[in-house]
Amino acid sequence: MKITVKNGIIVTPEGSFPLDLLIGDDKVAALGERGDFPGSDREIDAAGCYVMPGAIDTHTHIEEPFMGAVPEETWPMATRNAAMGGVTTVLNFVNQEPDKTLVASIVSERERISPQACIDFGFHGVFSDYTDLDAIGAEFAPLFAEGVTSVKTFTIYSDSGFFADDWTIYNLMRSIREQGGVLGVHAENMPIGEKMQEEFIRQGKTESVYWPQIKPNFVEAEAVRRVCSIAEQVGCGLYIAHTSTRESVDIIAEYRAKGLPIFGEGCSHYFMFNDEIYSKPLVGWREIISPPLRSPADQEALWRGVRNGQIVLFGSDHCPYNTAAKDAGYKAQGFPGVVNGGPGILENVPALFAEGVVKGRITPERFVEVTSANPAKLFGLWPRKGALAPGSDADIVIFDPAKKQTLGAHLYEGIDWSVYEGMELTGYPVLTMLRGRVIVENGKFLGESGAGEFIPGKMDPKALGTVR
Ligand code: URP
Ligand code: ZN
Repeated sequence: MKITVKNGIIVTPEGSFPLDLLIGDDKVAALGERGDFPGSDREIDAAGCYVMPGAIDTHTHIEEPFMGAVPEETWPMATRNAAMGGVTTVLNFVNQEPDKTLVASIVSERERISPQACIDFGFHGVFSDYTDLDAIGAEFAPLFAEGVTSVKTFTIYSDSGFFADDWTIYNLMRSIREQGGVLGVHAENMPIGEKMQEEFIRQGKTESVYWPQIKPNFVEAEAVRRVCSIAEQVGCGLYIAHTSTRESVDIIAEYRAKGLPIFGEGCSHYFMFNDEIYSKPLVGWREIISPPLRSPADQEALWRGVRNGQIVLFGSDHCPYNTAAKDAGYKAQGFPGVVNGGPGILENVPALFAEGVVKGRITPERFVEVTSANPAKLFGLWPRKGALAPGSDADIVIFDPAKKQTLGAHLYEGIDWSVYEGMELTGYPVLTMLRGRVIVENGKFLGESGAGEFIPGKMDPKALGTVR
């Protein structure tokens, strides 16, 4: 089957070009001048639109129970929601199951998900028991052999098995360095963030408006500086998950300037919304997320960080917890009772396109780099993913910069609220293609469960060295 995408602007990190693109079965076959590829089975007219590699969402918590809440959104729903927002690969967190190794947990999750996923997928591993560091160290070679090239850890959540102390982080980094991978860290100072919460509870201050006050900027920044410093000593790749503060951007800049493979991950909601949201009813407590939304000055710094090479990848931090769980938790205990995290798998990429590219805050080339090329390089998927080059998977998203779309829960399956509710975007994806098959067109999902494949990562130090 041959498909031509014609009359569009092909966007790569290196530049944007008025070229036609030929797809042969599941791969990009060639790029050529206008009219170079007559006689295809199908021609897609992309006039007036950008033709980009499908986005890789680097941060999703699909079907993950957390703080007593269980998502209603299933894998098929989540991957359909993602495709509607221009995402063709998700990198989901897999938590180590009780009494199992992480690698065994990942193998069984891969088998469970394969018949369900509508788009391609990969995994980040998450250890949930750090009692035996030798056993953990022995997991890395098999993890990488299975195609899992990153592990994420947490410097907070002491009452879960996820919290890792500095010695644990030091050891995780030593093991990852040997494999040439990257450690992801959710960086917040545990004792201060958690004790501050206890203090606020004692004072009866549990309304949502207090949420950002228990985790002020320095709670994130201190942990970011600490893990950067450990990564520098060890010589390990590091990315800071959901970078939210201006201080974090500056710290990452400091370490990037030394030539270290230390990166920030952005999540669009930190760019689109600020902490004023916490004084609003409903959305104020539903948007209890960690770290919290920040100030307009932090939002400005995040945009600067994307432009200047501190924030180099984007993930949605999609946490699909619905209003029943959110509202019941808030009614019972105020913000401490609300499961952390909100949905975003559908809006993350379109919002960045509309507010970033269309409004001129970032270039189309930078957009492609942070949503697709860099994630592929950081997690060992390059150049199969993240590129529109001959031989790459034909994962394509076509963005119409003039298309208007109002966001909200109505666009989702299995999700009943959205922090983006009512926001109108100018600039939206109009077609998504997964390995040469059109899976979204004219707002309709046309793909199928089980069409998504597990994509094993294989680290390439040369590609990692070009992330900027
Ligand atoms: O609030 C968030 N981000 N919830 C998801 C778990 C985590 O902290 O990453
Ligand atoms: Zn996190």
